[in-house]
Amino acid sequence: MPYGKQFIDDSDITSVVDTLKSDFLTTGPKVKEFEDSISEFCDAKYCVAVSNGTAALHLASLVLLNENDKVLTTPNSFLATSNSILYVGAKPIFVDISKDGNIDLDLCEEELKKDFTIKAIYAVAFSGNMINQEKIRYLKDTYGVVILEDNAHAIGALYDGIKAGSCTNSDCSIFSFHPVKHITTAEGGAITTNSKEIYEKLLRLRTHGIVKTPEMKPWEYEMISLGYNYRITDIQCALGISQLKKLPEFINKRHHIAKKYDTVFKDSIVKPLYEFNGKSSYHLYVVQVNFNNLSISKEELFNNLKEKNIGIQLHYIPINRQPHYRSLGYGNEEMPVMDQYYDQCFSLPIYPKLTDQEQDYVIKTIKEILI
Ligand SMILES: Cc1ncc(COP(=O)(O)O)c(C=O)c1O
Repeated sequence: MPYGKQFIDDSDITSVVDTLKSDFLTTGPKVKEFEDSISEFCDAKYCVAVSNGTAALHLASLVLLNENDKVLTTPNSFLATSNSILYVGAKPIFVDISKDGNIDLDLCEEELKKDFTIKAIYAVAFSGNMINQEKIRYLKDTYGVVILEDNAHAIGALYDGIKAGSCTNSDCSIFSFHPVKHITTAEGGAITTNSKEIYEKLLRLRTHGIVKTPEMKPWEYEMISLGYNYRITDIQCALGISQLKKLPEFINKRHHIAKKYDTVFKDSIVKPLYEFNGKSSYHLYVVQVNFNNLSISKEELFNNLKEKNIGIQLHYIPINRQPHYRSLGYGNEEMPVMDQYYDQCFSLPIYPKLTDQEQDYVIKTIKEILI
Protein backbone atom coordinates (compact mmCIF):
# COMPACT_ATOMS: atom_id res chain seq x y z
CA MET A 1 0.00 0.00 0.00
CA PRO A 2 1.91 3.10 -1.19
CA TYR A 3 1.04 6.68 -0.18
CA GLY A 4 -0.40 7.31 -3.65
CA LYS A 5 -1.14 5.52 -6.88
CA GLN A 6 -3.00 5.82 -10.16
CA PHE A 7 -6.57 4.80 -10.99
CA ILE A 8 -6.87 3.38 -14.52
CA ASP A 9 -10.12 1.91 -15.85
CA ASP A 10 -11.37 0.45 -19.15
CA SER A 11 -12.33 3.86 -20.55
CA ASP A 12 -8.70 5.02 -20.11
CA ILE A 13 -7.43 1.89 -21.83
CA THR A 14 -9.89 2.30 -24.72
CA SER A 15 -8.82 5.95 -25.23
CA VAL A 16 -5.16 4.98 -25.40
CA VAL A 17 -5.79 2.03 -27.74
CA ASP A 18 -7.92 4.21 -30.05
CA THR A 19 -5.07 6.70 -30.30
CA LEU A 20 -2.56 3.94 -30.97
CA LYS A 21 -4.74 2.91 -33.90
CA SER A 22 -5.01 6.52 -35.19
CA ASP A 23 -2.71 8.41 -37.57
CA PHE A 24 -1.04 10.46 -34.85
CA LEU A 25 1.05 9.09 -32.01
CA THR A 26 2.56 12.52 -31.38
CA THR A 27 2.04 16.18 -32.49
CA GLY A 28 -1.55 15.26 -33.35
CA PRO A 29 -5.02 16.47 -32.28
CA LYS A 30 -5.09 14.83 -28.84
CA VAL A 31 -2.45 17.23 -27.51
CA LYS A 32 -4.56 20.33 -28.25
CA GLU A 33 -7.71 18.56 -27.04
CA PHE A 34 -6.00 17.76 -23.74
CA GLU A 35 -4.69 21.32 -23.41
CA ASP A 36 -8.14 22.76 -24.15
CA SER A 37 -9.77 20.50 -21.60
CA ILE A 38 -7.26 21.57 -18.94
CA SER A 39 -7.70 25.29 -19.76
CA GLU A 40 -11.45 24.87 -19.56
CA PHE A 41 -11.28 22.88 -16.34
CA CYS A 42 -9.05 25.49 -14.66
CA ASP A 43 -10.50 28.69 -16.16
CA ALA A 44 -7.16 29.57 -17.74
CA LYS A 45 -6.81 31.11 -21.20
CA TYR A 46 -3.88 29.01 -22.40
CA CYS A 47 -2.34 25.64 -21.65
CA VAL A 48 0.83 23.99 -22.95
CA ALA A 49 1.16 20.27 -22.22
CA VAL A 50 4.70 18.90 -21.88
CA SER A 51 6.64 15.72 -21.11
CA ASN A 52 6.57 16.06 -17.30
CA GLY A 53 6.08 18.55 -14.47
CA THR A 54 9.81 19.28 -14.25
CA ALA A 55 9.86 20.24 -17.95
CA ALA A 56 6.84 22.47 -17.25
CA LEU A 57 8.80 24.24 -14.51
CA HIS A 58 11.89 24.52 -16.70
CA LEU A 59 9.99 26.11 -19.60
CA ALA A 60 8.10 28.46 -17.29
CA SER A 61 11.42 29.52 -15.73
CA LEU A 62 12.96 30.13 -19.15
CA VAL A 63 10.11 32.52 -19.89
CA LEU A 64 9.75 34.19 -16.48
CA LEU A 65 13.34 34.52 -15.30
CA ASN A 66 16.75 35.78 -16.38
CA GLU A 67 20.18 34.69 -15.21
CA ASN A 68 20.99 35.85 -11.65
CA ASP A 69 17.39 36.75 -10.85
CA LYS A 70 16.52 36.16 -7.19
CA VAL A 71 13.49 33.97 -6.54
CA LEU A 72 11.77 33.35 -3.20
CA THR A 73 10.74 29.73 -2.89
CA THR A 74 9.81 27.01 -0.47
CA PRO A 75 12.06 24.36 1.04
CA ASN A 76 8.99 22.10 1.36
CA SER A 77 8.60 20.76 -2.15
CA PHE A 78 9.89 18.20 -4.53
CA LEU A 79 13.36 19.18 -5.75
CA ALA A 80 12.09 20.15 -9.21
CA THR A 81 10.53 23.41 -7.97
CA SER A 82 13.80 25.08 -7.03
CA ASN A 83 15.91 23.07 -9.50
CA SER A 84 14.03 24.85 -12.28
CA ILE A 85 15.33 28.16 -10.88
CA LEU A 86 18.88 26.80 -11.01
CA TYR A 87 18.40 25.47 -14.57
CA VAL A 88 18.20 29.04 -15.86
CA GLY A 89 21.06 30.38 -13.75
CA ALA A 90 18.77 32.19 -11.33
CA LYS A 91 19.09 32.11 -7.53
CA PRO A 92 16.57 30.47 -5.21
CA ILE A 93 16.14 32.10 -1.80
CA PHE A 94 14.49 29.68 0.61
CA VAL A 95 11.80 31.07 2.89
CA ASP A 96 10.37 29.22 5.89
CA ILE A 97 6.92 27.65 5.71
CA SER A 98 3.69 28.25 7.61
CA LYS A 99 1.99 25.66 9.78
CA ASP A 100 0.00 24.39 6.76
CA GLY A 101 3.18 23.43 4.88
CA ASN A 102 2.96 26.27 2.32
CA ILE A 103 5.57 29.00 1.95
CA ASP A 104 5.09 31.74 4.58
CA LEU A 105 3.96 34.73 2.52
CA ASP A 106 4.46 37.15 5.44
CA LEU A 107 8.11 36.16 5.53
CA CYS A 108 8.21 36.60 1.75
CA GLU A 109 7.02 40.16 2.27
CA GLU A 110 9.81 40.77 4.81
CA GLU A 111 12.33 39.62 2.19
CA LEU A 112 10.72 41.80 -0.49
CA LYS A 113 10.89 44.84 1.81
CA LYS A 114 14.60 44.21 2.40
CA ASP A 115 15.52 43.62 -1.25
CA PHE A 116 13.71 45.34 -4.10
CA THR A 117 15.70 43.36 -6.68
CA ILE A 118 13.86 40.09 -5.93
CA LYS A 119 12.22 39.07 -9.18
CA ALA A 120 9.77 36.31 -8.40
CA ILE A 121 8.02 34.00 -5.96
CA TYR A 122 7.73 30.30 -6.75
CA ALA A 123 5.00 29.02 -4.43
CA VAL A 124 3.80 25.43 -4.13
CA ALA A 125 0.19 24.56 -3.27
CA PHE A 126 1.50 21.94 -0.88
CA SER A 127 -0.59 18.78 -0.53
CA GLY A 128 -3.37 20.36 -2.66
CA ASN A 129 -3.98 23.37 -0.42
CA MET A 130 -3.78 26.52 -2.57
CA ILE A 131 -1.64 29.44 -1.53
CA ASN A 132 -3.39 32.45 -0.03
CA GLN A 133 -4.68 34.24 -3.11
CA GLU A 134 -5.35 37.66 -1.56
CA LYS A 135 -1.85 37.77 -0.15
CA ILE A 136 -0.15 36.67 -3.36
CA ARG A 137 -2.14 39.27 -5.33
CA TYR A 138 -1.12 41.91 -2.78
CA LEU A 139 2.58 40.94 -3.08
CA LYS A 140 2.36 40.94 -6.87
CA ASP A 141 0.71 44.36 -6.99
CA THR A 142 2.77 45.98 -4.24
CA TYR A 143 6.24 44.67 -5.09
CA GLY A 144 5.82 43.92 -8.80
CA VAL A 145 7.03 40.35 -8.41
CA VAL A 146 6.43 37.60 -10.94
CA ILE A 147 4.42 34.71 -9.49
CA LEU A 148 4.67 31.05 -10.43
CA GLU A 149 2.26 28.65 -8.75
CA ASP A 150 3.53 25.08 -8.64
CA ASN A 151 0.17 23.31 -8.57
CA ALA A 152 1.62 19.84 -9.13
CA HIS A 153 -0.36 18.76 -6.03
CA ALA A 154 -3.40 20.87 -6.63
CA ILE A 155 -5.33 20.25 -9.84
CA GLY A 156 -8.99 20.52 -8.85
CA ALA A 157 -8.29 22.65 -5.76
CA LEU A 158 -10.12 25.90 -5.04
CA TYR A 159 -9.56 29.09 -3.05
CA ASP A 160 -12.65 31.27 -2.61
CA GLY A 161 -13.92 30.22 -6.02
CA ILE A 162 -10.48 30.64 -7.67
CA LYS A 163 -9.36 27.44 -9.37
CA ALA A 164 -5.83 26.05 -9.15
CA GLY A 165 -4.23 26.69 -12.52
CA SER A 166 -6.48 29.64 -13.38
CA CYS A 167 -3.52 32.02 -12.91
CA THR A 168 -5.97 34.56 -11.50
CA ASN A 169 -3.17 36.00 -9.37
CA SER A 170 -0.08 34.53 -11.01
CA ASP A 171 1.82 34.60 -14.28
CA CYS A 172 2.08 30.84 -14.75
CA SER A 173 0.95 27.69 -13.03
CA ILE A 174 2.24 24.18 -13.57
CA PHE A 175 0.82 20.67 -13.11
CA SER A 176 2.38 17.21 -13.02
CA PHE A 177 0.63 14.09 -14.29
CA HIS A 178 2.95 11.55 -12.70
CA PRO A 179 1.01 8.44 -11.57
CA VAL A 180 0.97 9.48 -7.89
CA LYS A 181 -0.80 12.72 -8.77
CA HIS A 182 -4.59 13.20 -9.17
CA ILE A 183 -4.69 12.36 -12.86
CA THR A 184 -1.98 10.72 -14.87
CA THR A 185 -0.51 10.57 -18.35
CA ALA A 186 2.22 8.19 -17.05
CA GLU A 187 4.75 11.02 -17.36
CA GLY A 188 3.40 14.44 -18.20
CA GLY A 189 2.93 18.02 -17.17
CA ALA A 190 1.34 21.28 -18.22
CA ILE A 191 1.75 25.02 -17.87
CA THR A 192 -1.25 27.35 -17.79
CA THR A 193 -1.17 31.10 -18.28
CA ASN A 194 -3.44 33.98 -19.29
CA SER A 195 -0.70 35.75 -21.25
CA LYS A 196 -0.63 35.24 -25.02
CA GLU A 197 3.01 36.33 -25.07
CA ILE A 198 4.04 33.75 -22.47
CA TYR A 199 1.96 31.09 -24.25
CA GLU A 200 3.66 31.69 -27.59
CA LYS A 201 7.12 31.58 -26.04
CA LEU A 202 6.27 28.32 -24.27
CA LEU A 203 5.10 26.75 -27.54
CA ARG A 204 8.41 27.59 -29.20
CA LEU A 205 10.46 26.33 -26.28
CA ARG A 206 8.48 23.09 -26.16
CA THR A 207 9.71 22.17 -29.65
CA HIS A 208 12.87 23.51 -31.24
CA GLY A 209 12.35 27.27 -31.27
CA ILE A 210 11.10 26.98 -34.82
CA VAL A 211 8.64 29.28 -36.64
CA LYS A 212 7.01 28.67 -40.02
CA THR A 213 4.89 31.41 -41.65
CA PRO A 214 2.56 31.31 -44.69
CA GLU A 215 4.99 33.59 -46.62
CA MET A 216 7.79 31.02 -46.41
CA LYS A 217 8.61 28.53 -49.14
CA PRO A 218 7.11 25.06 -48.54
CA TRP A 219 10.32 23.62 -47.10
CA GLU A 220 11.37 26.66 -45.11
CA TYR A 221 11.38 27.16 -41.36
CA GLU A 222 13.40 29.38 -39.07
CA MET A 223 14.86 28.58 -35.71
CA ILE A 224 14.63 31.83 -33.77
CA SER A 225 15.46 30.54 -30.30
CA LEU A 226 16.66 27.43 -28.50
CA GLY A 227 14.05 24.76 -27.94
CA TYR A 228 14.07 21.66 -25.78
CA ASN A 229 11.74 19.09 -27.33
CA TYR A 230 9.66 18.61 -24.19
CA ARG A 231 6.68 17.37 -26.20
CA ILE A 232 4.08 15.02 -24.77
CA THR A 233 2.61 12.34 -27.04
CA ASP A 234 -0.95 11.93 -28.29
CA ILE A 235 -1.06 8.55 -26.55
CA GLN A 236 -0.36 10.22 -23.20
CA CYS A 237 -2.82 13.03 -23.91
CA ALA A 238 -5.56 10.52 -24.79
CA LEU A 239 -5.03 9.04 -21.32
CA GLY A 240 -5.05 12.52 -19.78
CA ILE A 241 -8.35 13.48 -21.46
CA SER A 242 -9.98 10.33 -20.17
CA GLN A 243 -8.53 10.83 -16.67
CA LEU A 244 -9.61 14.48 -16.45
CA LYS A 245 -13.25 13.43 -16.87
CA LYS A 246 -12.92 11.44 -13.66
CA LEU A 247 -11.12 14.12 -11.66
CA PRO A 248 -14.18 15.37 -9.69
CA GLU A 249 -14.91 11.78 -8.70
CA PHE A 250 -11.25 11.24 -7.70
CA ILE A 251 -11.30 14.35 -5.53
CA ASN A 252 -14.55 13.26 -3.84
CA LYS A 253 -12.90 10.00 -2.96
CA ARG A 254 -9.84 11.78 -1.59
CA HIS A 255 -12.12 14.03 0.51
CA HIS A 256 -13.91 11.01 1.86
CA ILE A 257 -10.61 9.45 2.99
CA ALA A 258 -9.28 12.74 4.41
CA LYS A 259 -12.47 13.25 6.43
CA LYS A 260 -12.22 9.75 7.81
CA TYR A 261 -8.59 10.22 8.89
CA ASP A 262 -9.51 13.61 10.38
CA THR A 263 -12.35 12.17 12.42
CA VAL A 264 -10.34 9.27 13.73
CA PHE A 265 -7.16 11.14 14.61
CA LYS A 266 -8.78 14.33 15.89
CA ASP A 267 -7.67 15.07 19.48
CA SER A 268 -5.01 12.34 19.37
CA ILE A 269 -1.22 12.71 19.16
CA VAL A 270 -1.47 12.10 15.40
CA LYS A 271 -2.42 15.60 14.28
CA PRO A 272 -3.68 16.35 10.77
CA LEU A 273 -1.51 19.09 9.19
CA TYR A 274 -4.65 21.16 8.72
CA GLU A 275 -8.27 20.69 9.70
CA PHE A 276 -10.40 19.13 6.96
CA ASN A 277 -10.54 21.59 4.06
CA GLY A 278 -13.02 20.73 1.31
CA LYS A 279 -11.22 23.15 -1.04
CA SER A 280 -7.94 21.21 -0.88
CA SER A 281 -7.57 18.52 -3.51
CA TYR A 282 -5.66 16.32 -1.02
CA HIS A 283 -2.84 15.00 -3.14
CA LEU A 284 -1.27 14.27 0.24
CA TYR A 285 -2.74 13.63 3.67
CA VAL A 286 -0.06 14.79 6.09
CA VAL A 287 -0.04 14.21 9.85
CA GLN A 288 2.26 15.53 12.56
CA VAL A 289 3.54 13.51 15.50
CA ASN A 290 5.87 14.77 18.21
CA PHE A 291 8.24 11.81 18.48
CA ASN A 292 10.08 13.40 21.44
CA ASN A 293 7.27 12.26 23.72
CA LEU A 294 7.18 8.72 22.37
CA SER A 295 9.15 5.54 22.86
CA ILE A 296 9.24 4.95 19.09
CA SER A 297 11.36 6.98 16.64
CA LYS A 298 10.25 8.18 13.23
CA GLU A 299 12.59 5.68 11.59
CA GLU A 300 11.16 2.81 13.63
CA LEU A 301 7.66 3.88 12.70
CA PHE A 302 8.51 3.93 8.97
CA ASN A 303 10.14 0.48 9.18
CA ASN A 304 7.39 -0.95 11.33
CA LEU A 305 4.67 0.21 8.93
CA LYS A 306 6.66 -1.00 5.92
CA GLU A 307 6.73 -4.49 7.44
CA LYS A 308 2.96 -4.23 7.70
CA ASN A 309 2.75 -3.19 4.04
CA ILE A 310 1.85 0.45 4.72
CA GLY A 311 4.03 2.85 2.75
CA ILE A 312 3.99 6.16 4.57
CA GLN A 313 6.25 8.84 3.07
CA LEU A 314 7.90 12.07 4.16
CA HIS A 315 7.04 15.08 2.02
CA TYR A 316 9.60 16.70 2.04
CA ILE A 317 13.22 16.80 3.13
CA PRO A 318 14.06 20.57 3.15
CA ILE A 319 15.48 21.19 -0.33
CA ASN A 320 18.05 23.70 0.91
CA ARG A 321 19.64 21.02 3.14
CA GLN A 322 20.31 18.66 0.19
CA PRO A 323 24.01 18.03 -0.61
CA HIS A 324 23.83 19.73 -4.00
CA TYR A 325 22.27 22.83 -2.47
CA ARG A 326 24.83 22.77 0.36
CA SER A 327 27.57 22.70 -2.30
CA LEU A 328 26.06 25.94 -3.62
CA GLY A 329 26.20 27.60 -0.20
CA TYR A 330 22.68 26.85 1.02
CA GLY A 331 21.71 24.78 4.04
CA ASN A 332 22.30 27.02 7.06
CA GLU A 333 19.15 29.13 6.75
CA GLU A 334 17.10 29.45 9.93
CA MET A 335 13.79 27.74 9.26
CA PRO A 336 12.27 26.69 12.58
CA VAL A 337 8.85 25.79 11.17
CA MET A 338 10.29 23.71 8.34
CA ASP A 339 12.69 21.96 10.73
CA GLN A 340 9.90 21.06 13.12
CA TYR A 341 7.74 19.98 10.22
CA TYR A 342 10.53 17.73 8.95
CA ASP A 343 10.95 16.14 12.40
CA GLN A 344 7.26 15.48 12.89
CA CYS A 345 5.40 15.04 9.59
CA PHE A 346 4.61 12.14 7.32
CA SER A 347 1.98 11.32 4.70
CA LEU A 348 -0.59 8.55 5.00
CA PRO A 349 -1.91 6.57 1.99
CA ILE A 350 -4.57 8.50 0.07
CA TYR A 351 -5.72 7.64 -3.46
CA PRO A 352 -9.04 6.81 -5.15
CA LYS A 353 -8.40 3.07 -5.21
CA LEU A 354 -7.74 2.87 -1.45
CA THR A 355 -10.57 0.69 -0.18
CA ASP A 356 -12.50 1.19 3.07
CA GLN A 357 -10.84 -1.95 4.44
CA GLU A 358 -7.39 -0.63 3.56
CA GLN A 359 -8.17 2.73 5.24
CA ASP A 360 -9.37 0.88 8.34
CA TYR A 361 -6.21 -1.20 8.31
CA VAL A 362 -4.03 1.94 8.14
CA ILE A 363 -5.98 3.55 10.98
CA LYS A 364 -5.95 0.43 13.18
CA THR A 365 -2.21 -0.13 12.65
CA ILE A 366 -1.26 3.49 13.36
CA LYS A 367 -3.42 3.50 16.47
CA GLU A 368 -1.82 0.27 17.70
CA ILE A 369 1.68 1.64 17.24
CA LEU A 370 1.28 5.27 18.27
CA ILE A 371 -1.86 5.89 20.29
C1 LIG B 1 5.46 20.06 -6.13
C2 LIG B 1 6.04 19.35 -7.32
N1 LIG B 1 6.52 20.09 -8.33
C3 LIG B 1 7.04 19.51 -9.43
C4 LIG B 1 7.09 18.14 -9.57
C5 LIG B 1 7.72 17.54 -10.79
O1 LIG B 1 6.82 16.81 -11.55
P1 LIG B 1 7.29 15.58 -12.46
O2 LIG B 1 7.58 14.42 -11.56
O3 LIG B 1 6.10 15.33 -13.35
O4 LIG B 1 8.49 16.02 -13.23
C6 LIG B 1 6.58 17.34 -8.55
C7 LIG B 1 6.62 15.87 -8.67
O5 LIG B 1 6.61 15.12 -7.76
C8 LIG B 1 6.04 17.96 -7.40
O6 LIG B 1 5.54 17.24 -6.38
